[in-house]
Order: sequence, then C-alpha cells, then structure tokens
Amino acid sequence: MSSNKKSRLRRKDEHIALSLRQKPGLADFSEIHFVHNCLPEQDLNRVTLKTSLLGMPLRSPLFINAVTGGTPLARRINAALAETARECGLPMAVGSQMAALEHPAVRATFKVVRRVNPHGITWANLGAYATPEMAQEAVRMVGASAVQIHLNAPQELAMGEGDCRFRGNLERIRAVVQAVDVPVIVKEVGFGIAMEQARLLLEAGVAAIDVGGRGGTNFLSIESGRSGRRLPPDLLNWGLPTAISLIEVLEAVQGKIPVIAAGGMASSVNMAKALALGAAAVGLAGLPVYLLMKKGKRALIREIGRLELDLCRIMLMTGASTLEELRRKPLVITGFTAAWLERRGIDVNKYARRS
Ligand SMILES: Cc1cc2nc3c(=O)[nH]c(=O)nc-3n(C[C@H](O)[C@H](O)[C@H](O)COP(=O)(O)O)c2cc1C
Repeated sequence: MSSNKKSRLRRKDEHIALSLRQKPGLADFSEIHFVHNCLPEQDLNRVTLKTSLLGMPLRSPLFINAVTGGTPLARRINAALAETARECGLPMAVGSQMAALEHPAVRATFKVVRRVNPHGITWANLGAYATPEMAQEAVRMVGASAVQIHLNAPQELAMGEGDCRFRGNLERIRAVVQAVDVPVIVKEVGFGIAMEQARLLLEAGVAAIDVGGRGGTNFLSIESGRSGRRLPPDLLNWGLPTAISLIEVLEAVQGKIPVIAAGGMASSVNMAKALALGAAAVGLAGLPVYLLMKKGKRALIREIGRLELDLCRIMLMTGASTLEELRRKPLVITGFTAAWLERRGIDVNKYARRS
C-alpha cells in the first residue's frame, strides 16, 4: 500500500481517538424558544415520531451520521453502529469510502454494515472529489439507498496532508446527481452551509442538504490535535452555528428538498427545536461514537430511546402529537441568532406568529 493510502487509513483511527477527547458538543439553540402550551389536549402515548425521508418511511427522524471505515477498529465500530441502527430502526451512513475505492482489501470494513443490518437504510459516503463512477461503486459496495457527498474545506485546509483543490466540486456534484440512481445528500462536517451555497446545491439537483453546522464535533480542533499545529482560538470557532445554518438553508430551499439538522444535535431539546424549525431529520455522529466507545452499545441504544422519549415529551408540551404539527408551533428567535438572520434578510417574526 502506498504511504498516501496508509496515511488515509491511519487518519481515520486518529479522528476517532481525537473525537473521543472532545465530549460530544451541543450546538447552541438557546436563542430559539418554544412557547409553552398549557392545554396540549393529547396523551403522551399518542405522540408519534413517524416520518419519511427521501421517499422512505422512518419510525423516528434520528439517524446515525457518517463516521468511519477502512481499519480493523473502524470495522468494529461500523458493526456496532449497524447493530444499533438495526435495533433502533434508524438509517445509518458509513464513513468516507475513498479508502475502499483505492484499496479493495478494506471494503469489508464498510460492507459489514450491510451484513449486520441487511434490511436497514444505509447511505454511502464520499467527498466532493467523487466522480460518477466512484459514487456508483460506493453505492453498490454497501447496497445504499442514498449517497452522501461531504464538504469539508476548512478541515482539508487544516490537515497537513489535506487536499486543497476545491475547483470543480459543484460541477462534480451535479455530474454525480445525474449519474447515480439513488438520491444525493450533500453534507457539511461541522462548519455549516449558508443560503447562497444551498441555492447552488438545490440548482445542481441534490435531493437533500445536511447542514452539518458548528457546535458539535470540531474538525479544526481534531486536525490541530493531529498535526500538533496550534490554530488561533478565533479560527477554531470558524463556521455557521447549526441553528443559523439550518434556518438559512430552509429559507434558501423553500421546501423543495428536505433539510437535515446535524452538528451538535445530541440533546432532545436541540432535536425538538430543529424539527420545529423545519428539519426533516436529525443526524448524530460524535454522540454515538462517544457512547459506544466509552460505555458500550447497550448504553448507546438506551440513550437513543431516552432521547426519543424526551422528544415526544417536548412535542407534547408544545401541543404537537406529530412532527407535522410541531412544525406549525410558534418559535421565538432572539438575540444574536435573530440579529444575524435579520441582517441576512430572513423574517424571524413569521416563526413567532405561526399556528
Ligand atoms: C470520528 C468522526 C469521523 C467522521 N468521518 C466522517 C466521514 O468520513 N465522512 C463524513 O461525511 N463525515 C464524517 N464525520 C462528520 C459527521 O458525519 C458529522 O457531519 C459531524 O461530526 C457533525 O455531527 P456531530 O456534531 O453529531 O458529530 C465524522 C465525524 C466523526 C466524529
């Protein structure tokens, strides 16, 4: 194996090790407020999280986002995450499959997800360097029903060995959309997506956008830990906070495609607020890895159950018994978040006055 390929594989294990040093971060949704409903007129056992995404029925809006693949450790993590996805009935994305395209010997570390969860919803994952042929191969490899294309320019720029050529990414995404016969989800990895780029992605034909905003896993801090190169503290906070990115992207796409909330979504309150804002689903990456590695699979499965039950309780307190109803409940947006959105031409009052 070339040293380049070895370093790609080593990097995947280093990402796991360094992500475990950060406790799963929580994005700041504190300036998004629910309005309490003292007359919910509903019973907790009738609140449902059922929904659908990209034409697939889901029992819950949560999913396990892209994490890993390519090494023996990654294989064990993928197997355990796939068992969790199977037991909880959640979709799961595999980590970047570039390593497996370059080196067929490591394909089993991704395919294990399909073996463990033969009927589950599985998503492929590649970067924006992907050609249509690479994307087709990645989809076939894990029997995926969608493919994620990740955008991560700040991370690549912070990596010693990063690929800093970003020209042509949008055109490649457009080509992948046209070539593959599954929906293409474009995602960020923790720096968020702004409305201008969301419009370009919509126009390129992507089927969904995962905003992957700031507040959860921080890849600048992880890359700084890997390289030993200190980054200025202000730069470590680069990116759009998840709540702001989510609202910007929802405004940009105007309901034409689903928008996924991810990046520090690891609390039921954040999940409820993101879903009320209009997110179609909620992705979790840092939290499942952390719980799995520190406390084990059973603890992870229990936590997912707890998060879902708390989500139902919060829905009930707003008077919503379905996610559709939750999306019509008033939300008051204040402070820096409101000021930012207003400066960006987004009317925050419409969220406060809806019913
Ligand atoms: C250890 C680790 C490895 C990751 N590897 C990938 C990857 O290969 N491809 C990808 O699209 N995103 C990757 N991500 C990013 C996540 O999918 C997600 O976008 C990001 O971590 C924000 O979500 P979180 O705050 O819930 O962790 C990785 C995240 C972690 C924690």
